[in-house]
Amino acid sequence: MNIILINANPNPHSLTHSFTDHIKLRAEEKGHKVVIRDLYEMKFDAILGRQDYNQFLDGVIPSDIRKEHEIITESDMIVFLYPIWWAGPPAILKGYIDRVILKNFAYDKHPDGTYTKRLTDKKAMIINTMGASEEAYNENGFLDAMTTVMDKGVLDFVGLQNAGHHFFGDTENLNADRFKSFIGRLDDILEKVL
Ligand SMILES: Cc1cc2nc3c(=O)[nH]c(=O)nc-3n(C[C@H](O)[C@H](O)[C@H](O)COP(=O)(O)O)c2cc1C
Repeated sequence: MNIILINANPNPHSLTHSFTDHIKLRAEEKGHKVVIRDLYEMKFDAILGRQDYNQFLDGVIPSDIRKEHEIITESDMIVFLYPIWWAGPPAILKGYIDRVILKNFAYDKHPDGTYTKRLTDKKAMIINTMGASEEAYNENGFLDAMTTVMDKGVLDFVGLQNAGHHFFGDTENLNADRFKSFIGRLDDILEKVL
């Protein structure tokens, strides 16, 4: 498979980056081809501004977005890796979705108001780190809310096959044992999808 790892964490020493590197390692061990899109390192322009808006209406795609489209078109699987910030993705990832997951690329809208999903030949997986515990966010409904927004609102809307949405919580209390157990859990996940 051609796999894209989209990393939206500014800290190169983050758990998100460790997970990204680990997935790359495991995927390459299995003979897959991996491309990392580190949005902060790329200084990805995450603002869908007035110029973009007008260009999109005219069907003009800016060159930075065309490049992402080429990479996505070539891919079989997209993995989104990001920390939970304010109960959702960091703005840079939201902006990536706003500017890249476009009409006439990821979906079509027809004159009768119906939609066609266009990324149906690809899988997608989401890996989140978060300060809160999974138990606490399960109880207060935040896990459900975040899963609905990303899995249904984004992945399913464009037809990406959902290969799993995983939350790694309580990251503030990370020690060597906990890190090892996180990597073990990630390996179990990867065993099923790679
Ligand atoms: C701006 C900001 C907002 C955050 N909001 C949340 C939040 O809403 N819920 C939560 O559980 N953790 C929140 N956190 C904590 C991060 O999720 C946590 O620092 C991160 O998962 C650590 O993993 P990392 O090493 O991959 O960055 C926030 C952190 C920052 C910097």
